Amino acid sequence: MKFEISPSREEILRHKDEIVAMLQDFSPSSHAAWPSAEAAAEEVEQSMREDVQRISIVAMAGGRAVGWVAGLKMYSYAFELHPMVVRHDWQRRGIGRALLKAFEAEARGMGALTVYLGSDDHVRATSVGGTNLFPDVLGRAREIKNVKNHPYEFYVKCGYEVVGLIPDANGKGQPDIILAKSLMRGDVDEREKTPPLRDGVL
Ligand SMILES: CC(C)(COP(=O)(O)OP(=O)(O)OC[C@H]1O[C@@H](n2cnc3c(N)ncnc32)[C@H](O)[C@@H]1OP(=O)(O)O)[C@@H](O)C(=O)NCCC(=O)NCCS
Repeated sequence: MKFEISPSREEILRHKDEIVAMLQDFSPSSHAAWPSAEAAAEEVEQSMREDVQRISIVAMAGGRAVGWVAGLKMYSYAFELHPMVVRHDWQRRGIGRALLKAFEAEARGMGALTVYLGSDDHVRATSVGGTNLFPDVLGRAREIKNVKNHPYEFYVKCGYEVVGLIPDANGKGQPDIILAKSLMRGDVDEREKTPPLRDGVL
């Protein structure tokens, strides 16, 4: 069945309960699911606040939400993506990739040069879980392997690079895997065109 992608606030509000249900399920990584419907609803509501530049995009199929991604501007030129979910029975059909593409287009439109995110490993699903990562954390990041279907590889397949690890971020042996993607085209030339920051720090 076909799916469509929309950043419209009305669509997100219309599908809010379905998005909440996906966040509470968060299958197959249910340990990372939102603990209550209230907490999940707060996450969805937050994605539509206007305090900072935010992005919130829903994927729909057959009139129901089947995926959702959100994020916000965290640096002058970088957006953090969080969270990202595709309904478990709709996974591996290209919806995640389409949501990422739409997120990146929105972020680029708001002036971002980089999108980044953290992808936790709570359950030794990668070679960097369940182990002491010091010393040479970056060496461990460089050699990361997927052991049990961890989503970091999904982002790699969509053009993201592992740019770091936060050791023990969620407890002993439970790191956060940090990934990022450049939104610039033509690298150096585009970089030269980057407008200076208002405070002149660049
Ligand atoms: C991770 C997730 C968003 C991916 O969405 P999806 O719609 O299944 O992904 P797509 O079908 O667009 O996949 C794009 C590519 O990534 C691959 N891929 C998807 N999930 C993967 C995984 N867990 N491990 C390895 N590769 C994966 C697909 O096979 C596909 O590869 P291909 O281009 O070579 O065919 C989805 O599985 C999900 O919601 N998981 C539960 C919640 C979660 O973990 N969110 C991310 C937290 S950081």
